[in-house]
Amino acid sequence: MLILSPSILAADFTILGEQMKKVEEGGNDYFHFDVMDGMFVPNISFGIPVLESIRKATDKVLDVHLMVQAPERYIDKFADAGADIITVHQEACVPMEETVKKIHDRGKKAGIAIKPHTDTAVLERYFGLADMFLIMTVEPGFGGQEYLPVCTDKIKTLRSKLTSMGLDTDIQVDGGITKDNVETVIGAGANVIVMGSSVFHGDITANAAYFSALFAEHDKERGERV
Ligand code: DX5
Ligand code: ZN
Repeated sequence: MLILSPSILAADFTILGEQMKKVEEGGNDYFHFDVMDGMFVPNISFGIPVLESIRKATDKVLDVHLMVQAPERYIDKFADAGADIITVHQEACVPMEETVKKIHDRGKKAGIAIKPHTDTAVLERYFGLADMFLIMTVEPGFGGQEYLPVCTDKIKTLRSKLTSMGLDTDIQVDGGITKDNVETVIGAGANVIVMGSSVFHGDITANAAYFSALFAEHDKERGERV
């Protein structure tokens, strides 16, 4: 099933609650929450207090993307603050197996992310362990960047490797996804689609409604949604 996960990094934080409601009016499955520490990525975004606030504002799945050095330090804090999915970067998390176990022990889903130039081969040891793999389709750290076409083959490769192992693990794509390339990434095998600018810039409700309808259409064609 195709999942729309709008990234609140692109929202107007002076009216964040209002804008999240507008997204929900159009239709979404998750909200994507980009945590940046200024170390793993050259930017600082937001953290626990904001997550606690938005947890009270929505029942949607909170899909937390930790662009943080040594994220294992913060699993409990993000779980306590209301995360439903906690994704850590393979390039930033040394004790990966223990970290995934910790996320699962908290009853949350575990995602493992790789940057655009990290090979999908590094994910193979986590097949069957992670609930989702995130392929960054821009260099992490900022919204509003252009999609990196080199990532399309990475999505295809990962999807075919998972399928060959009999796994239908979620593949999330994140960064620069627009109306023009969303069919490309879906066709390549991604099924969890993060969008910041494409949803929060312009008519939010109409944007969310457009992508939700597109995804529902795709699912119907695939017999994955009635
Ligand atoms: C970038 C973040 C992305 C970004 C997506 O480091 O992980 O989630 O906010 O925003 P757009 O869709 O505008 O590229
Ligand atoms: Zn993200």
